[in-house]
Amino acid sequence: MKKTDVIIIGSGIAALQLATHIDKDKNVIILTKSHLTESNSYKAQGGIACAIGKGDHFIKHLNDTLEAGRHLQDVEAVAMLTKAAPSILQSMIKEGCPFDKDSDGKVLLGREGAHHENRIVHGGGDQTGKIMIDHLTKKLSHNISVMENFFVFQLLIDKQSNTCFGIKGKYENNKTETIHADHIVLATGGAGQVYSFTSNALTATGDGIALAYQAGAALTDMEFVQFHPTLLYVNGVTKGLISEAVRGEGAKLLLEDGTKIMEGIHPLEDLAPRHIVSQTIFENLQNGKQVYLDISMIVDFEKRFPSISELCLSNGVSIEKGKIPVAPGSHFLMGGIKTDKNGCTNINRLYAIGEVACAGVHGANRLASNSLLEGLVFGRNLASFINRSENLVQQYEERSTPSLSSKTLLPSLRELQTRMMKNTGIVRSEESLKQQLEWLEKYKANTLLTKNLEHYSIKMVTKIFMLTTAWLITSAALQRKESRGGHYRSDFPLELEEWDQTHIVLDQNSRKE
Ligand code: SIN
Repeated sequence: MKKTDVIIIGSGIAALQLATHIDKDKNVIILTKSHLTESNSYKAQGGIACAIGKGDHFIKHLNDTLEAGRHLQDVEAVAMLTKAAPSILQSMIKEGCPFDKDSDGKVLLGREGAHHENRIVHGGGDQTGKIMIDHLTKKLSHNISVMENFFVFQLLIDKQSNTCFGIKGKYENNKTETIHADHIVLATGGAGQVYSFTSNALTATGDGIALAYQAGAALTDMEFVQFHPTLLYVNGVTKGLISEAVRGEGAKLLLEDGTKIMEGIHPLEDLAPRHIVSQTIFENLQNGKQVYLDISMIVDFEKRFPSISELCLSNGVSIEKGKIPVAPGSHFLMGGIKTDKNGCTNINRLYAIGEVACAGVHGANRLASNSLLEGLVFGRNLASFINRSENLVQQYEERSTPSLSSKTLLPSLRELQTRMMKNTGIVRSEESLKQQLEWLEKYKANTLLTKNLEHYSIKMVTKIFMLTTAWLITSAALQRKESRGGHYRSDFPLELEEWDQTHIVLDQNSRKE
């Protein structure tokens, strides 16, 4: 058994920001089931929202964030996030993080959906995540070790004191390892892979959500999944993200006959909040029409968007023709493990930061380019909380858990993803959600989660985690009888005042099998 001060599960921007801000006298282990370069953060194209432009102010950024999230947020948390953005960015610029600049050395600011100012800081054109992860990786110091290809399947909890004291995980060769720590942090990212159309990395399978649920943590706002409007769409399959920054540079969504689909739908047209653009594209696709992004007006497209150009090329779509076929797909989970502004959960010494957490900053729909920012701000907040905390003095014992039957039958991933897209996707209804819940509950993922998962393959445990996450999303979506932000119910198409202050909270007590 190993022992350390801080365990961080996940290796995206929130994880690395936290690790690099922990005091150097504390030992930190970063656990990643894949590699440091395999995360949604690393793939992030757009950038980081930050009110540093002339005439901009954090209050304007705050207002755009609240409006995109349909005012379901904790206003104080959003104020903290948007106010912290300029100084946190300035410190990264000072450290030499290579954001894009003009010929006078001024940071370039792009525009994305639902922002009323140009405030998107970007790097490498459309490789903002990569340059930031590379920058933070270089800052990892001697007190931080990284265990790659290590999959965590259980959090160790002392039920009596409601305290998390470690984790159990395994390597690809099935060798298991137990690590005890004073502080355990979930920074595992989102769950886009529970849907068949997604912009997300293959690693985004809801692991942290399921681990927290298994441990007894509270989850909130799980019905709010953001579907990004523009994924490259070839032969009925989505192939990766076409950043909103492309529409920020003037690209328009149109049909084969040239009709501009966002005209008359919202005052911000193609740069309307994401749920509105996604729902409009979805409706056209349902009616058998193909939707394109017209990029013909963007000068030097390949220079501004090198990785998007490469994505199109490798999928046989010619940039020279000026039209990219697109469809919406799952992109970001607004809900997650319920935390405060430091990342504390309802379990002592268990924390959550980044996409896996719900700290009240995104509400019903996240504003573009607020996610890398969230990782930076909450990673730093949690580091200072941990740096101020006392070490754990008590020793805890592990309790044994019953074994899982060897006859466990689970559905194929493809079936899970396709059913989620159809029944708990961009448009939901009581009928589709009930159908989905009934299908999910057949597999009894909740009961499986209480068993000893040690003897099961990583693939099988991942599937149990995905079924759990899908159940949480579907269950919350069934309970919320209105439409708001990313959650659209065809049987309750309006946003309703009676739901203005309501958050659906789910935990182990919400489900009996
Ligand atoms: C994008 O580049 O369109 C995605 C950025 C984000 O999700 O904030």
